[in-house]
Amino acid sequence: MHWNRNLALFAAAAITLGMGALKGSSQDSTNEKNWWRNAVFYEIYPRSFADANNDGIGDLKGITAHLDYLKELGVDAIWLTPIYPSPQVDFGYDISDYVAIDPKYGTMADFDRLMTEANKRHIRVLMDMVMNHSSDKHKWFIQSRASKTNPYRDWYVWHDGKGETATDKGKVPNNWASVFGGSAWEWDDKTRQYYYHKFYVQQPDLNWNNPKVHQAFKDIIAFWLKKGVAGFRFDAITTLFEDPAMADEGVVKDKDGNPEIQNGEPVLENIKTDNLPGVHDVMAEMRAHADKFSTNAYPGTRVFIGETYLPNIAELLKQYGTPEKPEFHLPMDTQVLLINKMDASAFRARLEDAEGELGANVPLFVFDNHDNPRIDARYGDGVHDTDIQRVLSTVLFASKGAALFYQGDEIGMKTTPPTRKEDVKDPVGQRFWPTYKGRDGERTPMQWTSAINAGFDSPTAKPWLPVPANNSTINVLAEKSDSKSLYTWYRSLIQLKKTNAAFSEGSDTMLDRNNPSVLSWKRVAPGAPPVIICANFSADPQSVDLVSQGIPEGAITTLLKTPGAADPASLKHVNLGPFGVYIGQLQFMISH
Ligand code: GLC
Ligand code: CA
Repeated sequence: MHWNRNLALFAAAAITLGMGALKGSSQDSTNEKNWWRNAVFYEIYPRSFADANNDGIGDLKGITAHLDYLKELGVDAIWLTPIYPSPQVDFGYDISDYVAIDPKYGTMADFDRLMTEANKRHIRVLMDMVMNHSSDKHKWFIQSRASKTNPYRDWYVWHDGKGETATDKGKVPNNWASVFGGSAWEWDDKTRQYYYHKFYVQQPDLNWNNPKVHQAFKDIIAFWLKKGVAGFRFDAITTLFEDPAMADEGVVKDKDGNPEIQNGEPVLENIKTDNLPGVHDVMAEMRAHADKFSTNAYPGTRVFIGETYLPNIAELLKQYGTPEKPEFHLPMDTQVLLINKMDASAFRARLEDAEGELGANVPLFVFDNHDNPRIDARYGDGVHDTDIQRVLSTVLFASKGAALFYQGDEIGMKTTPPTRKEDVKDPVGQRFWPTYKGRDGERTPMQWTSAINAGFDSPTAKPWLPVPANNSTINVLAEKSDSKSLYTWYRSLIQLKKTNAAFSEGSDTMLDRNNPSVLSWKRVAPGAPPVIICANFSADPQSVDLVSQGIPEGAITTLLKTPGAADPASLKHVNLGPFGVYIGQLQFMISH
């Protein structure tokens, strides 16, 4: 979207944009179609969100009981990580039945009730769709491993060992490694072949060269769409295909030319088993299938979100597909997630990528999820963590596109890894202890209150992961009534995203591009004066001169600023404290 120069310079007095500006019944069908474009998505890790029956494991009833909380926060849609029946080796990402609910989380009736209650509150529900692999306890794999002639044999990726004989299993077919450590090949004694698993041994990869696998997932997608879900987050989607030539992966070298070692194993290039082109055809096929459900019976666009860890913006762009052959609506921009330091220049580059390189596609930024240490551990300095979280959430909500965040981010939950190996639940943490402690630290229960077990569980229950002691201060109840809390900051940003057209729909133009410490940008949408955002990425006070950046001196109305900060007296001096944020809207139109 570009500012129309012909309309420039028509000076306006203060323009107030009311709540109604984006809503209205005549726009209902457009809203239904476009709901996702500026939407706020909230990731729920059901196991750790709220436990209604006090067995220590969060459940569907727990989620339903907190929908009002999500509504008040301003969430448009929730993505539930897997709730299907599962042996829970990878806490749900090892699925043994794709069209049922794991009894630990509840029943299908509980799910239907969650859908009804979410609908009442205009909150949409997205499911996790794990197509790369199933559990080894799925009936397909049980069949597949039963014999070489079983009709399900070629639903998975089987291969002879190198130099295999009737008595010797030979060597693994090649050097491909599991994301979770060790070889990606597992020997199966009964049928004397290896099967491929990109993740845990209990997660055999499905064979996407088999049309029956395509059809099976189309049926699964249809099942959930008919239940009214608003879309899917596609898990590990870039790993569907492997190099048909089975060539070894190259080994990544460090700066001295030696193999790079991580957790005691060589780091592989990961180009023979990741981001192969076949993924695009599968996603286009699934998208065309799901698009057929956007009918009167199932109103509203069904949205495809992708777990897309990719090396650069050009690869991300491909995941959107083309207008003729669309793939994802919102492949996650994980470039920004992986910056992992408070570096204004790096963020500027990523924002410019999202604005400039994605064409008409909608960016989806994400900073946090259930697989990475939380924001405090990756960006915090132990002193200004809350202010740092204000900076990052500003980038998340005040930049173009949709936004996705993880439960607990809004209250500043801290990464709390286990302190003893025997307490580790995530198998990868046990394997690599103590160099890598696994993902338990970012999966601790949601902190609702300061009570014992944080309102996640009754005080006498035993949560599956311990509640961090900091729930005495970091909790929803305390933060809701504190105007200076991180919760209040998140809520304010989300409200701005819903009520202020320039803030939610504007294009982003970076200002002060050489400033190494402060990220400043302008958001411009037709018919509204620009919104200006300045975020200090440093622990030192900073001052930004917007006038030198071509913004004429004039009135600005503060939309949001770090608690306790003063309003700028002049656009020449927007003063920011350590990791301070200022967001204001000019009270006049400008010509560029
Ligand atoms: C995704 C999930 C992660 C899981 C993996 C294998 O990365 O987010 O939790 O372990 O896929 O399914
Ligand atoms: Ca429970």
